[in-house]
Amino acid sequence: MSYLEEVIQAVEYIKEKISFRPEIGIILGSGLGELVNEVEKQVVIQYSDIPGFPVSSVKGHAGNFIFGQLREKNVAVMQGRFHFYEGYPISKVVLGVRVMGLLGIKTIFVTNAAGGINKAFKPGDLMVIKDHINFPGENPAFGEEIPEFGPRFFDMTNAYDPELMEKAKKAYEKNGVPYREGVYAFCKGPSYETPAEIKMLSIIGADAVGMSTVPEVIAARQMNIKVFGMSCITNMAAGISKTKLSHKEVVETSNRVKDSFIKIIAHMVGEVE
Ligand code: HPA
Repeated sequence: MSYLEEVIQAVEYIKEKISFRPEIGIILGSGLGELVNEVEKQVVIQYSDIPGFPVSSVKGHAGNFIFGQLREKNVAVMQGRFHFYEGYPISKVVLGVRVMGLLGIKTIFVTNAAGGINKAFKPGDLMVIKDHINFPGENPAFGEEIPEFGPRFFDMTNAYDPELMEKAKKAYEKNGVPYREGVYAFCKGPSYETPAEIKMLSIIGADAVGMSTVPEVIAARQMNIKVFGMSCITNMAAGISKTKLSHKEVVETSNRVKDSFIKIIAHMVGEVE
C-alpha cells in the first residue's frame, strides 16, 4: 500500500465514526493532554484502532484522536503524537497531520514542551512560536511527490500565522499570562542536548528547543493549513541553568501551568475565523 493509500484508509475509517468535519486540528504536547476535558460531544478514537497508525510509546503521552466541539468549533485533537526519536519514519511522524488535512482542517494548533534557551524565559512560561529551525534537516515532504498533500516546493515564510500570533497577544492579556514569543529549534533527541549544542542553538537564533512540532508544521504548511504554535517552557535547556534535565521536570512543569495553557488555547480556538 502506498503512503497516500494508507492516509486515505485512516481518513475513511475516521469519517465513518464522526458525523461532522473538523475545521481545526490541535496537537497536544507532553503533560498538556487535559485540554480534551474542554471538548464537548466527544468521539474518541484510539490510534491503535486506526489502520496504519503507530501507538505512541512515551509516558505522559496518550494515544487518542478526540473529535468534538471546542468553543463551538469542530475540532480534531491529537492527544499524543509520534516523535522522530521513537524511530518512526518521518512520514509516520506527520501521519496525523496528513489525515487531519485530508479531513479538511484549515488551521492547526501545535503545542509542545520545550527547554528554554532565551535567558529571559523561566520554566512555566508559554512561548508563542514565531519561527523554527529544522536542525536535523529531516523533511516530511522529502521523497516521492504526492500532489494530494500540496506542492513540491512551498514557502515557509510566515509559517506561523501572523494574524493568529496577534490574536494570541490578546488571549494572553485577557488571561493574565505574560506574553513570550520566540524561535523553536527542533532536535531529534531523545537525549537532551549538550551545553555546547545549546550554546550553538542560542548563537543561531533559537529561544527554545524541543523534539517535535517542526515536521508537523512543515507538513501542515505544504497542505496550506494555517499554523499556531505554542511551547510550554518546562525547563531551562542544558547549561542555561545548573539543574539536571529530566522528563519528570518536563511533566511537572507542564502540569503546573496547564490551566493557563488550556485557557489560552481554548480562547484562541474561539477566535479562529
Ligand atoms: N530539550 C529538548 N526537548 C525538550 C526539552 C529540552 O530541554 N525540554 C522539554 N523538551
